[in-house]
Amino acid sequence: MASASFLSLLVLVAMASAVSAQLSSTFYDTSCPNALSTIKSAVTAAVSSEARMGASLVRLHFHDCFVDGCDGSVLLADTGSFVGEQGAIPNNASIRGMDVIDNIKTQVEAVCKQTVSCADILAVAARDSVVALGGPSWTVPLGRRDSTSATGNTGDLPAPTSSLAQLQAAFSKKNLDTTDMVALSGAHTIGQAQCKNFRSRIYGGDTNINAAFATSLQANCPQATGGSGDSSLAPLDTKTPNAFDNSYYNNLLSQKGLLHSDQVLFNNGTTDNTVRNFASSASAFTGAFTTAMIKMGNISPLTGTQGQIRLSCSKVNS
Ligand code: HEM
Repeated sequence: MASASFLSLLVLVAMASAVSAQLSSTFYDTSCPNALSTIKSAVTAAVSSEARMGASLVRLHFHDCFVDGCDGSVLLADTGSFVGEQGAIPNNASIRGMDVIDNIKTQVEAVCKQTVSCADILAVAARDSVVALGGPSWTVPLGRRDSTSATGNTGDLPAPTSSLAQLQAAFSKKNLDTTDMVALSGAHTIGQAQCKNFRSRIYGGDTNINAAFATSLQANCPQATGGSGDSSLAPLDTKTPNAFDNSYYNNLLSQKGLLHSDQVLFNNGTTDNTVRNFASSASAFTGAFTTAMIKMGNISPLTGTQGQIRLSCSKVNS
């Protein structure tokens, strides 16, 4: 009896370790003790020369993790014989910061040769960006490895035209619940969006928008499509565009969400109370945000001997 239950315990332990190799915050402590400080100083420098870069780096980690897991695939540039994710609709002429990641990777390679993955650099750079813009810090689990290809499932990224139900489905597919989804959307407290992504909302397509807010956005976002106005930028958080705070949620309370997919979070639906909570309590928001960032960073990582440690983040090792 005793030995039978011991045996089944052993089997259980073996199964558990086979199913999920765990990330660990101490992963580079002996193999590359200077990795985290090297990343942090490079991110801090990039954000102080251009605040928006902090937003762009946070978004890169999101676009990495939602497409086939946090495996650095978003960083792979197209070549003559390879088509990656960067030309797909949610990314094309929109994601930024790949050059900053390449530069960080060069600095990290100089201190530890082929040890730190690009996927981990993205996760740490996202955290350091939030901190550089005045937001909360958290401990980043590490040990992700880099993909050797990109399958291009960019359709898993939610569109700015999404309904609440579509957003919930997109996040739930990644094992993120509705609270995670509302908290992660709070990353839109920083950064900017192009006119083509909110045009319909400010020209009568949505009724749940503050009229004065819509009019003020029209000045820099022409109604006619196809011209250079398509890429005119507006801050995702008009109130404090470069501060990582909870004003995103206060904007939603006054119908000043920039994207359709922002305002659906506060539109007489099931997420209204979560938005109210995050608007009134900065600590409720930061607690939920940091928890959700760790969960997002855990989406299907490559670990152990899977994948590779790229030498250059924009291409697979030759
Ligand atoms: C909820 C579903 C989401 C949708 C539909 C969405 C959509 C978008 C769109 C359309 C833009 C503007 C892109 C452009 O105009 O070039 C944007 C920007 C941004 N998104 Fe999201 N997003 C979502 C969730 C997230 C999440 C989960 C994060 C990170 C945790 C995030 C972080 C950002 C940041 C920081 C920017 C500004 C980037 C910059 O200025 O370079 N977004 N998002």
